[in-house]
Amino acid sequence: MKHIVAVGQFERAWIETLFADADRMRSVTAAEGLVRGKILATLFYEPSTRTRLSFESAMLRLDGQVISTENAREFSSAIKGESVEDTIRIVAGYADCIVIRHFERGAAQRAANASPVPIINGGDGPGEHPTQALLDLYTIQNELGQIDDLKVALVGDLRFGRAARSLALLFRKTRNTELVFVAPGAVPMGDDIKDALDGASVSWREEPDLTKAMGEVDVVYQTRIQQERFATPEEYTEAQGIYIITPDNMKDLGQHAVVMHPLPRVDEIHPEVDPDPRAAYFRQARNGVFIRMALLHQLLA
Ligand code: CP
Repeated sequence: MKHIVAVGQFERAWIETLFADADRMRSVTAAEGLVRGKILATLFYEPSTRTRLSFESAMLRLDGQVISTENAREFSSAIKGESVEDTIRIVAGYADCIVIRHFERGAAQRAANASPVPIINGGDGPGEHPTQALLDLYTIQNELGQIDDLKVALVGDLRFGRAARSLALLFRKTRNTELVFVAPGAVPMGDDIKDALDGASVSWREEPDLTKAMGEVDVVYQTRIQQERFATPEEYTEAQGIYIITPDNMKDLGQHAVVMHPLPRVDEIHPEVDPDPRAAYFRQARNGVFIRMALLHQLLA
């Protein structure tokens, strides 16, 4: 695989190998020099904490080097009108691999089409976030010991939330998964995802009652309402603050189950939930380093 653009690229056997590699990456040190001499460029046109810094941390832990533009929309030549394609052609001359986050759906594919070096999609607008989906599924395996035969609630902004969209699509590579969509009326899961799940015989249903969903699932995957994607503040206000995980509704969640979130959160998980051992979202973010080490090693070694 040259580029990582969408979860539709991933086959089950490849995912299992990547997860085994990620397990091994937990004990890898820079001294081993697994990608020594290679350079990663992180080209971010939208804000990020986890994706950019975990990719950069992953590269440094493999003994590679990093060049970065963290606000490419303003501080790269995009502000002068340079196209994504031209920028990629230039950066590919400076780096062996490029992670791009862009505000437009499809921008990562455009970058891949123009690039002689591997492109990794770090999020393309409301499109996809494939490496997030990989670390999410890896977290489920780590937390529950399995990725099959699970019932999962995807909660929050399922319309604009690229993490939830990509994870839903990735469940096509699992067996006997049941998905429960708990979304405000303004931001339901898109028909494109529902059609793809139907095509892969993944069971799904919409459920307006978060408490009911929490009582029946193994994983609650909460997401932020994506304020930056709404046309008006009124539309955002209509969708916001409806589904919040609190210590009170955690009582409905099975003791074996976990709460996940791609982060950042705003108010959709109450901070008092954090000490609960079933709150897996900070462990999930940490897993991103190991999945991204495994990916970079595969692409660059
Ligand atoms: N989960 C995620 O993509 O976080 P960042 O926006 O901080 O990269």
